[in-house]
Amino acid sequence: MIARLEASFRQVRQFSADASHELRTPLTVIKGEAELALRRPRPAEDYRQVLESTLEEIDRMTQIVDELLFLSRADLGEVAIESLPVRLDALVEDIQRQAAVLGQEHGVQVTVGTVEPAVVQGDELRLRELLLNLVDNAVKYSRPGGKVEIALVREGTTARLSVTDQGIGIAPEELGRIFDRFYRTDAARAHAKKGTGLGLSICKWIAEAHHGRIEAQSTMGQGSKFTVVLPVVHD
Ligand SMILES: Nc1ncnc2c1ncn2[C@@H]1O[C@H](COP(=O)(O)OP(=O)(O)O)[C@@H](O)[C@H]1O
Ligand SMILES: [Mg+2]
Repeated sequence: MIARLEASFRQVRQFSADASHELRTPLTVIKGEAELALRRPRPAEDYRQVLESTLEEIDRMTQIVDELLFLSRADLGEVAIESLPVRLDALVEDIQRQAAVLGQEHGVQVTVGTVEPAVVQGDELRLRELLLNLVDNAVKYSRPGGKVEIALVREGTTARLSVTDQGIGIAPEELGRIFDRFYRTDAARAHAKKGTGLGLSICKWIAEAHHGRIEAQSTMGQGSKFTVVLPVVHD
């Protein structure tokens, strides 16, 4: 009991430390660049570049704060989840275009494989967010020319929604940690600068709020497969 409490306090402390650190980095960049720009008069183009970089850092901080806000509201039980029938196959068809565009930006081809009909009880917007988050990761951690496939199959009383990529992969010892808040693998940090390490925590919360779970399989350097397993509505 005491050990559990200590572990949970440690987690909260670690979380605050990580959150502060992640927000501090963009602030340091903005401050440094503004100070440098103000040191002497400069051509308009230089100011423009500083403002562009400032905007990028602000976008990053906004994303971190939005995701943190979501997670703390989720912790407090304040996130409302709809409970309506959602056709997952229609959802997959629906995000196909958006997913393809995400891929194009990185030279990655996003395709849809097998899609079997499946209806779950839940919140369409959240499920869409979950799937887009997984596609975003799959594309981001792919290499140009890589392929990403979305698929949906029925298995007994569950629907298995998967996103498979041929990207950088995740080492076995890190697979257990990627759903932790702020956790990003070194390979991921080296591959893609952008990221908060909060997306998968949100995905996991959404899957569990639907009485489901999310599984990750991966081979380092070869690719990863994320599968969301959700109970289907009787039909
Ligand atoms: N498709 C993937 N391929 C390789 N690594 C991944 C993939 N998806 C997630 N990861 C790893 O899990 C970490 C956490 O993912 P996430 O919470 O979405 O954070 P972010 O996308 O901001 O890096 C990533 O930083 C990366 O290390
Ligand atoms: Mg992500």
